[in-house]
Amino acid sequence: MNQATFTRFDESTRDDWALIDAHFQRYQNDASRRVLEHLLRLKGDTHGYPVDRYEHCLQTATRALAAGADEETVVCALLHDIGDDLAPANHAEIAAAILEPFIDPLNVWMIRHHELFQGYHYRTFYGLDPHAREAYREHPAYARTVRFCDEWDQCSFDPDYPTRPLEDFIPMVERVMSRPPFGETTSVEDTP
Ligand SMILES: [Fe+2]
Repeated sequence: MNQATFTRFDESTRDDWALIDAHFQRYQNDASRRVLEHLLRLKGDTHGYPVDRYEHCLQTATRALAAGADEETVVCALLHDIGDDLAPANHAEIAAAILEPFIDPLNVWMIRHHELFQGYHYRTFYGLDPHAREAYREHPAYARTVRFCDEWDQCSFDPDYPTRPLEDFIPMVERVMSRPPFGETTSVEDTP
């Protein structure tokens, strides 16, 4: 049996869910490959910036790595703009949601708020308050988000920077995304 036999959940059995869960575990384990595949979609159109978003992501991750950031932070840097093509107006939510099951909640907060924090460097050109991020000064992730944006993100539009290739980061993404989602592994097979 390769597919569940029910047509509605209220008629499903434990065997159905064991089968579905086995499929899900394999699908989940392959998620990092699909995420990295999606990152490649940021190649090409620069949207007027000096480099495309793919180059920008690699460069942000390269700078974080060079600065001695831990692996999880480097992965955040690599993927922080991955939602740019799907949700240009609130792209940070996409990366935050993808990584949320696997990383420190403070890093989720950092990714989610990086747009606003990054705006310190350009919001004034849109008639907006560049200091809007100061509203979060007391937040425990404030300092790391400022560092992320100021030292790695906002400066990663340099076509001449020695940016590392994606291959250097693939094992890092695989390791982070192979952690048990939300710190625990549940399966139908292991449930009595
Ligand atoms: Fe960015």
